[in-house]
Amino acid sequence: MCGIVGYTGNENVTPILLNGLKKLEYRGYDSAGIAVINEGKLELVKSSGMISALCEKVENRPAMKGTTGIGHTRWATHGAPTDQNAHPHMSNDGRFAIVHNGIIENYVDLREELIQCGFTFLSETDTEVIVHLLEMYYKGNFRAAVMKVASRLEGSYGLGCICSDHPDTVIAVKEASPLIIGVGAGETFFASDVTALVSYTKNVIYLDDGELCEMTPSGVSIYDFAGRRIEKPVSRVVWDIEAAEKGGYDHFMLKEIMEQPRALKTAIDHRIKDGRVVLDDISLTPDYLKTVNKIVILACGSAYYAGCAGKYTIEALTRVPVFAELASEFRYSNPIIDEKTLVIVISQSGETADTIAALKEAKSIGARTLAIVNVVASTIAKLADDVIYTRAGPEIAVATTKGYTTQVAVLYLFAVYMADILGKIDSAERMRLLSEIEKIPSMVQRAIDLNRHIPYLASKYYKNTSLFFIGRNTDYAACLEGSLKLKEISYIHSEAYAAGELKHGTITLIEPGRLVIALACCERLFDKMLSNIKEVKARGAKVLGVALEGNLRIFAETDDGISVPRFDPLFCSLAEVIPLQIFAYYVAKENGCDIDKPKNLAKSVTVE
Ligand code: M6R
Repeated sequence: MCGIVGYTGNENVTPILLNGLKKLEYRGYDSAGIAVINEGKLELVKSSGMISALCEKVENRPAMKGTTGIGHTRWATHGAPTDQNAHPHMSNDGRFAIVHNGIIENYVDLREELIQCGFTFLSETDTEVIVHLLEMYYKGNFRAAVMKVASRLEGSYGLGCICSDHPDTVIAVKEASPLIIGVGAGETFFASDVTALVSYTKNVIYLDDGELCEMTPSGVSIYDFAGRRIEKPVSRVVWDIEAAEKGGYDHFMLKEIMEQPRALKTAIDHRIKDGRVVLDDISLTPDYLKTVNKIVILACGSAYYAGCAGKYTIEALTRVPVFAELASEFRYSNPIIDEKTLVIVISQSGETADTIAALKEAKSIGARTLAIVNVVASTIAKLADDVIYTRAGPEIAVATTKGYTTQVAVLYLFAVYMADILGKIDSAERMRLLSEIEKIPSMVQRAIDLNRHIPYLASKYYKNTSLFFIGRNTDYAACLEGSLKLKEISYIHSEAYAAGELKHGTITLIEPGRLVIALACCERLFDKMLSNIKEVKARGAKVLGVALEGNLRIFAETDDGISVPRFDPLFCSLAEVIPLQIFAYYVAKENGCDIDKPKNLAKSVTVE
């Protein structure tokens, strides 16, 4: 969850590290620090709080000059977010500094061992054992010492190490935590995310687990943990730095909401050719797909809700049962799956620990796995048998928007692809469905355009402290995502409820003035929804209705309305989520919340 960055070259390293950390801040933002080798000596600055607090500290001290250094932005796991627990951590002899992303599972034993050997610990972190081990094993060969340390560690680590005896060298190591090397002219970088590198170089090497990279200004050497040299390809990042900047918007979240028509176009367009879905990227054969008798979707948070939305469409088109399950629960549920089960894992980051664990479990039981992922070459993308990239571009706001909608769009494409293979739709129906899917980007733009009054609705309702989202079927899937968005960024309690369930207990919570957001785009269930709306209205609730454009019946029954463009009910819930994202955004803004970096959260959740 933390962000790490490192550099060695000929430039002043301090601004490079601070810029890199600003780009990575969304990965964790409770404390930060940098370490620089300045004239053969290690200098360290750390601060609790956001990167801005660290920058202030750096500005108010003598200049940190040097051309080699490392930096870290933290999401606390072991120990509170204090200056002392912030990274980098330094060895007792002042020779080594390290930054770490991940968790060292055997740190208690290692800590005990190191204390017995006379090392002093200054923090409560699991990470600090690494730097003392480094001091213990160092006999003049930096790489050999890092290699030895790696052999003692259990858990996950993206690690960056510097040593004052080797002022032109940075060593990075990867095990179950993302690490990318940037190769520039006369300079090399590492980072946990490509966003920190892309303004300096687009040439990157994606390290794999069990690899160590020794970097100097003149290039990189990569080794496996047995010390063998490995050659790895240099890849080219396809997007520009502007994609990871706010571009005039107040927040990344708003920018990413507005980017959705374009992101969806990129996710969809090249996958529809000559009236068919083309999934060139996957190797699932028609013969295999015909044997599938169950699909299990595994994911967390919004990605799980994308799975809930996709379930309706896949089941409707293929008639294969789909079970959307929380990845964090799946592995402990003694799951009933076999080689006839297709497991689809969904993850924007591709690094979510619970999803990775569930994917490994599914593979070990023999299921075939397909990942729907945004971040290229991420752990989930590499682990799954097949991967379909959502191609949403970098998503920086902690609350996902374009990440979610592109996942849903890919599930829609997959539904048509599989229905076609199973012979469940004829060519006329296939063409019709695909022409609907092709309209999604413009429908999403229309969903934005139709709802320019949402800032006004937010200013009317932002003081509510608890509210409900209700809906049925695909509307219910959209409720789940709309409610999470609101909770996540505005800190307002809300619950997503299947509308028919309210009367089985929860309706006791409906009282005068309670806001209920009623989603009623699923027109075949419209009358049922209308009854549910009347039930809550009769108990004094204020109702904000969400319905298809031109549905005057709902707007006659509700206090306020949000319109969603009309299109095929199978694909409607994607567009329905757009105004809910915008509502959450403006409610959070009214409440003065830190929208892009909500409290206690981080973008990618790499701990279980
Ligand atoms: O990177 P992932 O898609 O695997 O992340 C899963 C969840 O942590 C994520 O969707 C989370 O719920 C979002 N912050 C919600 O906006």
